[in-house]
Amino acid sequence: MSQQVRGVVALSKGAPVGLETIVVPDPGPGEALVRVEACGVCHTDLHYRQGGISDDFPFLLGHEAAGVVEAVGDGVTDVAPGDFVILNWRAVCGQCRACLRGRPWYCFDTHNARQRMTLASTGQELSPALGIGAFAEKTLVAAGQCTKVDRAASPAVAGLLGCGVMAGIGAALNTGNVGRGDSVAVIGCGGVGAAAVLGSHLAGAAKVIAVDIDDRKLATARGLGATHTVNSKEADAVDAVRELTGGFGADVVIEAVGRPETYRQAFYARDLAGTVVLVGVPTPEMKLELPLLDVFGRGGALKSSWYGDCLPSRDFPMLIDLHLRGRLDLDAFVTETIGLDEVEKAFERMRHGDVLRSVVLL
Ligand code: APR
Ligand code: ZN
Ligand code: ZN
Repeated sequence: MSQQVRGVVALSKGAPVGLETIVVPDPGPGEALVRVEACGVCHTDLHYRQGGISDDFPFLLGHEAAGVVEAVGDGVTDVAPGDFVILNWRAVCGQCRACLRGRPWYCFDTHNARQRMTLASTGQELSPALGIGAFAEKTLVAAGQCTKVDRAASPAVAGLLGCGVMAGIGAALNTGNVGRGDSVAVIGCGGVGAAAVLGSHLAGAAKVIAVDIDDRKLATARGLGATHTVNSKEADAVDAVRELTGGFGADVVIEAVGRPETYRQAFYARDLAGTVVLVGVPTPEMKLELPLLDVFGRGGALKSSWYGDCLPSRDFPMLIDLHLRGRLDLDAFVTETIGLDEVEKAFERMRHGDVLRSVVLL
């Protein structure tokens, strides 16, 4: 029997979000019903609200979440009722050309629940943000979107691994292949960039240079393992990174803003044959112009990082275990915890750069 619960819905483009009663069906084959315990507020939720991602309103927002599996549909064997899980938005298919080549983190055919949740008032089908929709007491997802992790972790911290924090850590560990002794620069130290700083620190980087235009973000980055900070409003980012790396540039530069000017900084702040990782998400109108000779002559790798090139089944339990052993300070990302009815206010604070993450606790 379907259930009615409360969820945060964006009804129309640009309008403030609010609480609505939503109808959540029982899980069908391959699906799981999850009782949400915590869900972080991410920029992508705000982009949905502003119509920047698609016009498929109404959206059920929220996608950085952890909770407990309440029920599963036929054929689900990987998770069971009672499991504490982190939700992911890339449930791999196992059958596309990426999966078949043994690179499931690139899966080109990820999937979500087949049944749709609906608005109780009108019966309209909801579009869940990133196929999750977790600013809700309960949500319906594909079972592959649930990854079981140690129950000892706090839900607020665990949920953040479901999106931005995983993207940043993975940009360093998986995409950038940061290793012991490397020099790393991270441009943009919001939630994603700060996580890239933490990931670089975890990987054993000798030098981690945090670059931002906001001193508050630089202070946080220092607490997470940055060895040097650069305020790029006051100093030229490229010159500063080169100066801090013997005049050469960093082995790996992670761009966590998603703008052409910061990408250009990343490109030139990198040592010869170094790696640039783009994990910040640009908007459709942005264009990049670079001398092609520099692209050739500087060698190395220019990479994009989707969701930190993570494989949830491999990365979520590992990172939670490291966190529980005191080796990964994920608590620092939870700036504040809020109620389900405070998401609109949290968007406002996010716009002002006041928070790394606001997390809704249910
Ligand atoms: N140079 C350096 N830092 C900058 C610049 C700039 N020109 N412009 C903005 N920043 C900094 C901001 O001060 C902020 O600390 O970039 C950071 C962006 O952080 P958030 O707004 O918190 O965004 P975050 O959640 O970290 O996501 C970063 O990744 O997932 C994408 O859509 C997301 O594109 C965004 C990026
Ligand atoms: Zn696949
Ligand atoms: Zn997100």
